[in-house]
Formats: sequence, C-alpha cells, structure tokens
Amino acid sequence: MNACDDSVESKVNPKTATLYSAALEDGDYHSRSEKLTALALGLFTPFPEKMQINRAFGKNMYQQYAHEGFANLFDIGAGPMPKGHEWAPRRRFLYIDHNASIVEHARKKLRPEDAAVYERGSVGDIPSLFEQGLGERAFNGDRKLAIASNAVLMFASDEDIKAAFSYLYAWCAPGSVATITIIGVTARENAFRTRMISNVLRWIGAQMYVRNIGTFKSLFAPWSIVRGPIPTWEWLSWPPSTRTAGIGFDLYAVQLMKCGSESSRGRKSC
Ligand SMILES: C[S@@+](CC[C@H](N)C(=O)[O-])C[C@H]1O[C@@H](n2cnc3c(N)ncnc32)[C@H](O)[C@@H]1O
Repeated sequence: MNACDDSVESKVNPKTATLYSAALEDGDYHSRSEKLTALALGLFTPFPEKMQINRAFGKNMYQQYAHEGFANLFDIGAGPMPKGHEWAPRRRFLYIDHNASIVEHARKKLRPEDAAVYERGSVGDIPSLFEQGLGERAFNGDRKLAIASNAVLMFASDEDIKAAFSYLYAWCAPGSVATITIIGVTARENAFRTRMISNVLRWIGAQMYVRNIGTFKSLFAPWSIVRGPIPTWEWLSWPPSTRTAGIGFDLYAVQLMKCGSESSRGRKSC
C-alpha cells in the first residue's frame, strides 16, 4: 500500500528518527556520527533525557491500552523500532510512517505471530489510506481503536493533523481513544524564546512546528480531550530534573476520546 509516492518523500527528514534512535539504549537506526551528535546535544540540552522519557511513555501507553482491553492499535509515525506488539502482545497492530526506509527497516523485525501490519503513509494520507480499506483490513472490520502517536505530530502541519483526526473521529467507534505526545510551549508562538527554540531545531536539522499547548483542542477537534496536555515526565511521574521540568518547552501528552456508550473497561466516559 502506498498512497504517497509523489508527494511525501520530499518532506521526509530522516534526522527525526536517527537522533531519536541515537539517544536510546534500544536504538538501531542511527550512525556513529548521530550517536556523537546526540551525546553532544546532551551536554547543553535535555535532549537525550527527553527522548528516554518519551520511549518510557510509549511503553506505558501500550501497557495501559492492553490493561484496558483494547484489541486494535493504530500507531501513526511508528518509527524504526516499533515495540507496541511486544509491550501489548496478542492484539492487532497497524503501524504507519511516512519514511519508506523506516518502514522497510522495521518490517524486517516483525514476525507473523505479531499480527502487525506496517505500511508507508504520512499523517495527511490517513483519510485516503482508510478510504482504500486499510483500516477495515488491519482491524478485521472492528472500528474500536486505540490510536498512538508518540513524538510525531510536531513534524506534521495543522492541515494534515486536522484532516487525519477529523476523519478518524468519523471512522472510529465510540469508546475509541488516542494518546499523543507532541512538542508544545506555554509561551506565545511569536514570543522571542519560542522563535529561538524553532531556530535551534532548524539549525540541528530537526525542524518542527512549535505550537502553544492551547492550540491542541482545535487541532484534534472533534475528539474530546480527557487528559492533558501534561508534560510527559509529569504524566509518568518521572523524577523531575532541572533540565527537564518546568521549562515551558516540552513533549506534552494528550489523551483524546470519542465519547459514547461503549467506553472501555475502567475508563471514565466523557
Ligand atoms: C521521533 S520518531 C518517533 C517514532 C515512534 N513514534 C517512537 O515513539 O518510537 C518520529 C517518527 O515520525 C515519523 N514522521 C514524521 N513526520 C511524519 C508524518 N508527517 N507522517 C508520518 N510519519 C511521520 C518519522 O519518520 C519518525 O519515524
């Protein structure tokens, strides 16, 4: 399945995955020089710690989905080291990522018993991929989903996110949830510090949208926000360090729900 041969490849920035991989113990998608860049970044920014917290967040999210009994998991921007099928075994998985070499790298590690489908596709491709039947096939006609998107949506435009999430809202059954981590700031988007952050990210080759956390509600509408936005370290009760806590520029976690009568075991309806 490939709905994006002409459009996506030009926008793919491999550094978004290689620097992440280089900062992690289980990373397997980076070169020696990226390991050095990640170490150097760690000298004057909280980058490696942020990435480790984010990986721990992904594990915690999948374990929570398993605990709550979700059978169908859809990971948007699953990256080169997807572990959802290991952290929440015996469920159906659909992974997508817009980077073809990442998809190829990750597919080699999937085993038939993992019940995981990994397709190339970007956030903006989700409506057309689902229109072509990808969701029906991957989840065997069951539309109650637990969606994950961990450290991805800061690389996608407002337009693509809105199109994907409003489509998914209409497609999914009530009781479906989505757990997202995304870069955010508490300051104004046009504040001097916010612009400096964007410039540094561009300088290291990891350009991203730096959004004010107040914009998330409209970004994910009509989903209801049932938790967050909360910095990921706080969500996990990760012991706050001065490098990570309270700096107003963070990976924020948000949980969304399509409210209705079929809310999942143990989850408050909204
Ligand atoms: C920092 S990595 C996170 C990977 C994974 N979610 C995890 O937590 O291990 C970001 C991933 O998002 C993917 N990505 C970035 N922009 C994307 C987009 N617009 N559509 C789909 N995937 C995207 C990148 O290729 C990369 O694999």
